[in-house]
Amino acid sequence: MKDYNLKQTFFNIINMKLFNVYPLFNITPIKGKDVYIYDENNIEYLDLYGGHAVISIGHSHPEYVENINRQVSKLGFYSNSIQNPLQVELADKIAELSGCDDYQLFLCNSGAEANENALKLASFHNNKKKVIAFKNGFHGRTSAAVAVTDNSKIIAPINAQQEVELITFGNLGAVEQVLRNNDVCAVIIETIQGVGGLDESTAEFYQGLSKLCKTHDAILIADEVQSGFGRTGDFFAFQKHHIEPDIISMAKGMGNGFPIGGILIHSKIKASFGLLGTTFGGNHVACVASLSVLKVLEDEALMDNVKVISKYVLDNVKNISKIKMIKGRGLMLGLEFDFPIAELRKTLIHKHRIFTGSSKNPNLLRILPPLTIQKKHMDVFFEALKLEL
Ligand SMILES: Cc1ncc(COP(=O)(O)O)c(C=O)c1O
Repeated sequence: MKDYNLKQTFFNIINMKLFNVYPLFNITPIKGKDVYIYDENNIEYLDLYGGHAVISIGHSHPEYVENINRQVSKLGFYSNSIQNPLQVELADKIAELSGCDDYQLFLCNSGAEANENALKLASFHNNKKKVIAFKNGFHGRTSAAVAVTDNSKIIAPINAQQEVELITFGNLGAVEQVLRNNDVCAVIIETIQGVGGLDESTAEFYQGLSKLCKTHDAILIADEVQSGFGRTGDFFAFQKHHIEPDIISMAKGMGNGFPIGGILIHSKIKASFGLLGTTFGGNHVACVASLSVLKVLEDEALMDNVKVISKYVLDNVKNISKIKMIKGRGLMLGLEFDFPIAELRKTLIHKHRIFTGSSKNPNLLRILPPLTIQKKHMDVFFEALKLEL
């Protein structure tokens, strides 16, 4: 009987299945170097997807690897009950590089968590609870973050109790009408919609939104989880439109793959002990990962590189007749074809060894490479496109 139980236990362990929520490409990357990843047979893939806009300074950047190694061998983690000068250094460096210096930093572990904390903080601040979000927006999968995401398939009944008004992207009049009821705690917006398909509205819209939020005492949350940390050529995408959001959420490129997220909170919002909190957020290794990202971003002038390469892509793809429109900015680009791109994307991966991204728009191919990418890498992509179209 005992023997049987042991065997049964062993059997169960070796048969444990992964919870099957991800449709997977049959590729197993085991190492990465700058803009390339390599599978177990050492086959090289060009990464124009950046692991979903996460890889900012290139895979396994030597300085990043060295700094993380050094930190983890010294002190990997301690709780948020002690002094952690790395958090202070990170706040200063973000302020310096972004120019957003009238803000306070709170660190967490992911994009959803950043938005969750942003929404909670807005509600604490003005004691209201309705949120305005936009159609086709994506803000993550935690409770409030998923409730303000425009995808009913990922909103469980437990999340559906939030009061959310989903408004057409760019419709300022509709925003004003809802704000007039004076029950909105926050308006959350991606300046450029990532998952939704790279749409961006006009400066008039973002500026109008900012003004309306001030008039109606609602917190404006800029979700920069995907577009932040230099991906558009500006540190944050909203900066092109000269607005000053009350809260800015960040994640993805912030840690170049090391899990870290955060919010920048305008100084008008006051902190109190216990208002927000996390066990892992802002740990020593995460801070070093993000500080290394910022150092490389600055030393290698990567935001300038983003602008150069972005222009190069636009110049090279504008004459491809099957591309109807080029969306997005910097290295957060979408090529909209006149046909669904699912097969093209598979061909790019399996035949040309090039990773690209998709979006909610079935005709849109997303280009989200590491910000270190060079013209010669993009040429390989243009050649592949020419061959396949
Ligand atoms: C704009 C935006 N916000 C939030 C998130 C959620 O981030 P995470 O997956 O780290 O929770 C994403 C993820 O794709 C995103 O693109």
